[in-house]
Amino acid sequence: MSTWANLGLQDSASPLMEQLIFFHDHALLILVMITVLVGYLMFMLFFNNYVNRFLLHGQLIEMIWTILPAIILLFIAFPSLRLLYLLDEINEPSVTLKSIGHQWYWSYEYSDFNNIEFDSYMIPTNELSPDGFRLLDVDNRIVLPMNSQIRILVTAADVIHSWTIPALGVKVDGTPGRLNQTNFFMNRPGLFYGQCSEICGANHSFMPIVIESVPTNYFIKWISN
Ligand code: CUA
Repeated sequence: MSTWANLGLQDSASPLMEQLIFFHDHALLILVMITVLVGYLMFMLFFNNYVNRFLLHGQLIEMIWTILPAIILLFIAFPSLRLLYLLDEINEPSVTLKSIGHQWYWSYEYSDFNNIEFDSYMIPTNELSPDGFRLLDVDNRIVLPMNSQIRILVTAADVIHSWTIPALGVKVDGTPGRLNQTNFFMNRPGLFYGQCSEICGANHSFMPIVIESVPTNYFIKWISN
């Protein structure tokens, strides 16, 4: 969960989010190098008094500053494509969770286990316990096993919603009439918070998502209850 003054990405809880953070840092490094170089050149031009009276063309320099940025872009494009296809990879999931977006709550179905289903509403501020997180805690949390591949199927019943958990690197739109799929692997236990991130209506900010990541035996105990 994000806390005060955390402007960067959250700590990852899944291998894919780890890769996303690596890619972010890589892209940012290239961005800083370009900004410094161009900034330096522009700054130095202010103090340049020389004028080249015979300058009409510069074939060589134009070749350089056309091809060089193209090569730099490849260094971003290839890792980006690698990640894009890695995010879509499904590795024999052991649990499937279906989440359906409604105005304005999520409902969940564990289709593998006797079709367990429940709604998950945000806890209103006036009913919040002192240790609860405002606008982020829900009455019924999703419980999922850590160290297992989990498949998420996302859809919606009314308008477009988006099932988003920053710490897991998951963000999938729930669209009425369509079933979107994603997957993740939680490599540590804990509570992972998320919010709907598709502008879905007046109470859009009041449909948070909470995942309880637990050891597998605890999950089996919970699901068989
Ligand atoms: Cu649902 Cu925004």
